[in-house]
Amino acid sequence: KYCTAIVLAAGQGRRMGTEVHKQYLLLGGRPVLYYSLHTFEASPLIDEIILVTGEGEEQYCKEEIVEKYGISKVKAILAGGAERYHSVWNGLCRMQKDGYVFVHDGARPFVDKDMIARAYEAVCAGKACVVGMPVKDTIKIADENGFVKETPKREELWMVQTPQVFDSELLRGAYAMLMRQAHIEVTDDAMVVEQMLNHPIQFVYGSYENIKITTPEDLEVAEVFAQKYFS
Ligand code: CTP
Ligand code: MG
Repeated sequence: KYCTAIVLAAGQGRRMGTEVHKQYLLLGGRPVLYYSLHTFEASPLIDEIILVTGEGEEQYCKEEIVEKYGISKVKAILAGGAERYHSVWNGLCRMQKDGYVFVHDGARPFVDKDMIARAYEAVCAGKACVVGMPVKDTIKIADENGFVKETPKREELWMVQTPQVFDSELLRGAYAMLMRQAHIEVTDDAMVVEQMLNHPIQFVYGSYENIKITTPEDLEVAEVFAQKYFS
């Protein structure tokens, strides 16, 4: 089936706090966003990339990233919205062909070809999967006063990464339902499918290097991974 990657780069990076939005900061001399675009470009499983950027950032992305580094699978560059789900929705509405859709955070540079292949296999089998890893730390749930409420079993907990991969009609259907709601609170794509449809979502192994650049210390770790990317 036809595979489209929607790469999200329309965030403001508030937790990073830099003037330049985090997806454009340099890592190993190249923008954070370059890495995932290049990996999808190089994957034989991906047919097309839709890049969702901040309003007014389209030209910069086109000239300084897509053209400069020859990312030829990018077929559309468009503006996202205020929340991540708006950006995904804009991307879903721009898709030319249905099939499978890989939704990926542009702030996650170290997606690799093996996890793309694992996710492809899972989506072929069951139409919905998310890449993630078992948590390393013990996770506790806090009450509203800042006291421990409970401790879920660690073996059952995964930290969720991207890509999150779906049959495109399934995901667009779920998002279309979401967008009609008055009160929306979702932080990833799987949550949209969980809340709107009763469809099973398979976990697929990502990697502990598939970090999201969120706060300044993430950049220091990413710099180390970036050196490996080129070696
Ligand atoms: N994103 C997006 N559109 C938004 C918000 C986020 O395309 N309105 C993208 C980001 O660019 C990022 C990914 O979704 O690649 C994950 O979001 P997050 O890490 O939260 O990035 P930001 O929203 O930019 O950061 P922050 O929440 O700290 O402001
Ligand atoms: Mg955010």
